[in-house]
Amino acid sequence: MATPIRTSPATPSTAMPPPPMHDIEAAPLPDRYARGWHCLGLADSFRDGEPHGVSAFGTRIVVFEGEDGTLRAINAWCPHMGADLSIGRIEGNRVVCRFHGWGFDGDGACKNIPYSKTIPPKARVRSWPLLERNRLLFVWHDAEGGAPTDDVAIPELESIGSPEWSDWSLSQWVIDNNCRELVDNLADLAHFGPVHGSSNVKYFANIFEGYRATQVMVGINERLGGTRNHLTTIATYYGPACLFCRMTGEAEGLPVESILLVTNLPIDQQHFQLGFGVMVKRIPALNDEQNAAMVKQYTDLTIQAFTEDVAIWHNKIRIDNPLLCAGDGPINQLRDWYAQFYADAAEVPPQLSERRVVEIDLGLDRHPELRHAFAV
Ligand code: FES
Ligand SMILES: [Fe+2]
Repeated sequence: MATPIRTSPATPSTAMPPPPMHDIEAAPLPDRYARGWHCLGLADSFRDGEPHGVSAFGTRIVVFEGEDGTLRAINAWCPHMGADLSIGRIEGNRVVCRFHGWGFDGDGACKNIPYSKTIPPKARVRSWPLLERNRLLFVWHDAEGGAPTDDVAIPELESIGSPEWSDWSLSQWVIDNNCRELVDNLADLAHFGPVHGSSNVKYFANIFEGYRATQVMVGINERLGGTRNHLTTIATYYGPACLFCRMTGEAEGLPVESILLVTNLPIDQQHFQLGFGVMVKRIPALNDEQNAAMVKQYTDLTIQAFTEDVAIWHNKIRIDNPLLCAGDGPINQLRDWYAQFYADAAEVPPQLSERRVVEIDLGLDRHPELRHAFAV
């Protein structure tokens, strides 16, 4: 006779129902672009005698160098019949439309129509302020039409032009996402392990002050930290779109200083051009050949590390209410800082100009070698 299977009588559950899941929220994308300097690339790359088309801020811009050596940027859609001025040619200090030959100066005014004695008064396009700094070319955007001011300056790097430093090695990608997703990175402590293999962050802080936001990090990184794996980075956004990072790591058993550049240029609200530059300080103990090899190796490693981030930005959605927990960095404070560049200048909260330091408690004292970062 088969043994009967014994079943327990059902007992009423006293367990609480699970809490509801977190719903991802995302407001519609902003209706304007950030106010600030945006990097277009290496300034010299625009100095080849040709007009250059740049898709940015939801429009088309033509950048060209006049015969006087000055770089200029104006809207590229010709008001006559809509051709792209960037496929035209440069004559003197003007860009000339390929379609019917109208010539525009750096202020955006049409100064010549080859077949007409008169120029329509409205024959003018928007011109864009440019800045050459650190061998890079920046364009100013302000939805309100305001001019750039000194209090939002891109700083001059002491390494530029120094024989002790390599030139920029610059890489660019187009990312299919809003540029905020990139800027979040500055406060993202928890991604260093999974994305970059920096399993042991020793110290992490963010400093917010006016148009600057800084990340200070001391960590362990096998690739960029050399045999002792020690890596220190101090990365500062100057405005919404340009970051310089001073990094100290190790190569060939010797300390290596480098400066990284991270820039974003919104093409439209769902795409941006991402720029990543590296310059490395030569090591006095190495000869020229050894230094060249070291610079190349270190540059390749940093690009490889940065590419790990790129894959994330390509494949994420926008989330306005990230589900944060202990061990995350101050993502929301960073976003409050970043929001100032989308507000009217008169509406920026005055408290954003005050210095705020957010240190993540990792159970360690502040590293004394970082004092200079906090004295900035
Ligand atoms: S479209 Fe540019 S000159 Fe006609
Ligand atoms: Fe990263």
